[in-house]
Amino acid sequence: MTQSKVQGLRPATQLVHGGTMRSGFGELSEALFLTQGYVYESMEVAEARFKGQTPGFIYSRYSNPTVAMFEERMALLEGAEAARATASGMAAVTASVMGQVRAGDHVVAARALFGSCLYIIEDLLPRFGVETTLVDGGDLEQWRAAMRPTTKVCFLESPTNPGLEVYDIRAIADIAHAGGATLVVDNVFATPMLQRPLELGADIVVYSATKHVDGHGRCLGGVILTSQALIDQHFHNYLRQTGPALSPFNAWVLLKSLESLPVRVAHQVRSAGAIADFLATQPGVERVIYPGRDDHPQADLIKRQMKGGSTLVSFDLAGGKAGAFRFANALSIVTISNNLGDAKSIITHPATTTHQRLTPEARAAMGITEGMVRLSVGLEDPQDLIDDIAQALQAVRAPGLAAE
Ligand SMILES: Cc1ncc(COP(=O)(O)O)c(C=O)c1O
Repeated sequence: MTQSKVQGLRPATQLVHGGTMRSGFGELSEALFLTQGYVYESMEVAEARFKGQTPGFIYSRYSNPTVAMFEERMALLEGAEAARATASGMAAVTASVMGQVRAGDHVVAARALFGSCLYIIEDLLPRFGVETTLVDGGDLEQWRAAMRPTTKVCFLESPTNPGLEVYDIRAIADIAHAGGATLVVDNVFATPMLQRPLELGADIVVYSATKHVDGHGRCLGGVILTSQALIDQHFHNYLRQTGPALSPFNAWVLLKSLESLPVRVAHQVRSAGAIADFLATQPGVERVIYPGRDDHPQADLIKRQMKGGSTLVSFDLAGGKAGAFRFANALSIVTISNNLGDAKSIITHPATTTHQRLTPEARAAMGITEGMVRLSVGLEDPQDLIDDIAQALQAVRAPGLAAE
């Protein structure tokens, strides 16, 4: 199927056929090109290719047919002009910011970020003379007040990890653009199925493909999606020369996973919604945060900005850390791990794992309590998950907890 034909199709179809490049063997399933380099019929052909006068592959740090298929499929899904794949989500985040700034520039970011993203903003950028300001992402006045003539990039993650707060992407994009900056959105928690930041005014979208895109806990990967102009201006050379290239093998795994992304995310969102509703009725559960529920603080914004809730539910258990540990240890189907978007349901205690690097005050500012757990809902039957959660809650309520 030609790319122009695929462009007019709906996402589920694009994710099965988009980007496919068949070799001369006419394989049905996309080929895995495990090659670093490419051969040229003559020196003249090599010269023309290196000068960019003729299209073609040169070296797999720059591009590779399997990686290119993954990039093309992701670009179709996101409605982006261009995509560049990276070895991990963090490689994509780092490039999305570092590619755009130089000493003397300024970056504004929402405070509620994944720990490694916070490291880039708070620790790494200042080492190279880039000043940064962290704001409460839900407070538009703080975004406006933080802008300076030197601000080049605004960065946010929505929904946030693990508080599942949702920020107004359109309004923040307007603030960024009024100040001459770009808006980068880390859309990992939403997935491309539930939120399309480029349509809301964002300039650049980044993903950890390690999460829902792979969805089976097998490999790391990342991707930057934006306009061709921004790729040419900020990212093309940065990525070619610094080399955070995605391995062709991982690209192949991710490419095949994209075929089932809509089905997986739809199932996970349905299950997560049912689990959130169940949790909200349970004694011992002090707070449920789920972007698909009417009691979510940004429920109206979510209806405007997102196509569905989330595959994740965060909730506070009575008894603080001891209550959370006892609950998680009592689960038998849900696994203790720190990944998300996986086929397997996963429970995480952010205060002692993903966010343990933060001070208690910083955690409190992000709404992370000692009793909070983050549940990434997988592909299991939702009733089995609810039964597992119910029996674990029973264990939390058992006498003896009060003494711990
Ligand atoms: C919101 C968010 N952004 C970026 C990353 C980094 O992704 P990776 O682990 O693929 O480098 C993660 C990983 O957990 C994440 O949750």
